[in-house]
Amino acid sequence: MPLRLRMIVASFATVVNGCAVVVDRVPPDIARHPSLARHHAAKFPIGAAVEPWQLETRAGQLLAWHFNSVTAENAMKPANLQPVEGRFDFAAADAIVDFAGRHGMKVRGHTLLWHEETPEWFWREADGKPATRERVLERLRTHVHAVAGRYRGRVYAWDVVNEVVHPLGPGCLRDTRWLQVVGPEYIAWAFRYAREADPSARLFLNDFETTEPTKRACLLRLVADLRAQGVPVHGVGHQMHIDLEKPTVAEVDKTLGLFAALGVEGHITELDMSIAANAAPGPARLERQAARYAALFEVFMAHPSVTAVSFWGISDARTWLNAKRSPADLDQPLLFDAQLAPKPAYFAVVKK
Ligand code: GLA
Repeated sequence: MPLRLRMIVASFATVVNGCAVVVDRVPPDIARHPSLARHHAAKFPIGAAVEPWQLETRAGQLLAWHFNSVTAENAMKPANLQPVEGRFDFAAADAIVDFAGRHGMKVRGHTLLWHEETPEWFWREADGKPATRERVLERLRTHVHAVAGRYRGRVYAWDVVNEVVHPLGPGCLRDTRWLQVVGPEYIAWAFRYAREADPSARLFLNDFETTEPTKRACLLRLVADLRAQGVPVHGVGHQMHIDLEKPTVAEVDKTLGLFAALGVEGHITELDMSIAANAAPGPARLERQAARYAALFEVFMAHPSVTAVSFWGISDARTWLNAKRSPADLDQPLLFDAQLAPKPAYFAVVKK
């Protein structure tokens, strides 16, 4: 087939929120594999975390074909959006939101408050003295209004707070400056500010190891308490950075059921599966990874409360798990390999 014609065949139109969106120039070698997102369209959107520089590369084409939701891997973290008080830099986040808009994809916002990415200026008055509780809350409100307000109607769900629970922390909360300076109410305020800024966004608490029984009990109690106080919490984000053994699929199933019983949504927000934990990846481990991904997707699909599944990356070419690994010893946690080709895990997931 002449190249031009092949391009046309590989173009497609998709309907998102009632609008026809044209996704063009998908290379035939990408388009010949069924789209993950269209395969799961009746159940939930399939997302990936991205950096803006990936969008105009081949990884961006893979993204547009297989995924219908994006999360900013880093671009929306507070220290990146407002490095200096009052000086916002939205360029990277805008590039991701614009790409999503052009391709009819949803955007999950990540994140409005995270202890690791709160810029230092939050904690100081102009004269260098420690900031008061009132000042910190006012800064939080300003930040949340600026960010969630800017993306109102374009970011459909926010990880309002990230990693606030700790099973050994005071009152089951992580012992951070947020807790020390503001007290446990900082969480409720973050949700209220997000609600003011974008009344239509779905609002989530996002955390890791949500399947670990002690931590899970803390998180369940926190969600129930917040909702009993009328705080607008719509769901829990389960990060789901997992490996070949833990957590068991049964624990995931049980966890999703426990949160569903509270009446909240579950988003799988940062899914990846390390296969390099105790041994080098090889064909046998790739097959085990495929089987485990298939079993997990079966569980996700069995829970109507699971309303989104997002991977923490597009392909093994870029994953946070390799940030500290040597080139000879790379992990392969996602569905596409470092050359962007589908792995056994991809084929297992599109069968489900
Ligand atoms: C946590 C955060 C993410 C990302 C990952 C990996 O899961 O929520 O934003 O930073 O760690 O670094």
